[in-house]
Amino acid sequence: MKSAGEILDAVRRVPLADLPTPLQEAPRLATHLGLSKLFVKRDDATGLAMGGNKARKLEYDFAPILEQGCDVVVTVGGAQSNHAVMTAAAARKLGLDVKLVLGGPDFARPRGNLLLDVLYGAELRYLVDDDDNDSLAAAMNGWVGELRAEGRRPYALPIGGSTGAGALGYVRAMRELAPQLGPGPVQVVVAVGSCGTFAGLNLGARLFLPGARIIGISVSRTARRIVQRTAELIAESAGLLGIDSPVPAGALECHDGFHEEYGVATESGTEAILACARLEGLLLDPIYTGKSMAGLFALARGGGLDAGVPVVFLHTGGLPILFAFDAETFGPARVTRVPLRAPPSGPAPLAAPGSSRR
Ligand SMILES: Cc1ncc(COP(=O)(O)O)c(C=O)c1O
Repeated sequence: MKSAGEILDAVRRVPLADLPTPLQEAPRLATHLGLSKLFVKRDDATGLAMGGNKARKLEYDFAPILEQGCDVVVTVGGAQSNHAVMTAAAARKLGLDVKLVLGGPDFARPRGNLLLDVLYGAELRYLVDDDDNDSLAAAMNGWVGELRAEGRRPYALPIGGSTGAGALGYVRAMRELAPQLGPGPVQVVVAVGSCGTFAGLNLGARLFLPGARIIGISVSRTARRIVQRTAELIAESAGLLGIDSPVPAGALECHDGFHEEYGVATESGTEAILACARLEGLLLDPIYTGKSMAGLFALARGGGLDAGVPVVFLHTGGLPILFAFDAETFGPARVTRVPLRAPPSGPAPLAAPGSSRR
């Protein structure tokens, strides 16, 4: 009988990410939160478009795109979508054209990920003030129809790259994490949006890291919707591996109290961002990882984590988003302006005897 690892290796993928990503200890943050051990799994260092979780998913999502001989990839996301920008990067790396349907508050200048979308030469259709998933999907399907009518071979990639295939990227990540951690129980905290990462982690934990408790922190949906969607994705991924899903329906743990509004910075997220930057030199963003770290902080402080069991924070990337925010989001900057020609300090020197002063 084949092992889970052999079964996973038999599924086609296109290498796109720098792997394995490092697992780093964060001792000062652990002390700050009263945890015995805290690690950060640095999936912000996957490389593609400045890194992030989507690189692992896209390795699987791009396999059928290449197999079917498509020449253009169309996908969707919010204004600062990491998935969209990483899809653009992957498409370019593989010699394909890319079209993005994005939506959200209107913008004066492309900043953050929008700037990178421009660099990658992605054509954008922007739904002003509308980032509803159904509106985005409808616009994507319409564009795909237009491209087909023009004789192109488009491929529509759903929001977040969250497909059963994409989730296998995080099944693989759990296989990678197991030897980095060694045996024993562990608590893994992760941001949840379109659910693919969370689905892959849960399935991967059952297969490769059975002592893991996977804790999802929502950045947008209710916990109920997350559990529903995650269960569907796990079933799809398990089907691709040709196994029955080993994750019982009631085993998914997700918290939805830390996001307020999708895309908007929160006070608790900002506190977490500043603590990580100032205690560990670690950067997080306000939309995803700042909020998942805020969830970790709240759980640690409220007794929701076992302080004696190691905690792994999965850093899912998203750092270009930081550059779509102004410094004031994070509090006052400590800047002293020094003029180019500073006047000498102290009293002005007296004129030399005999010199004329005007
Ligand atoms: C930086 C970052 N973290 C976490 C997530 C959530 O991942 P998923 O959509 O697989 O739930 C996303 C999704 O957009 C993301 O961009």
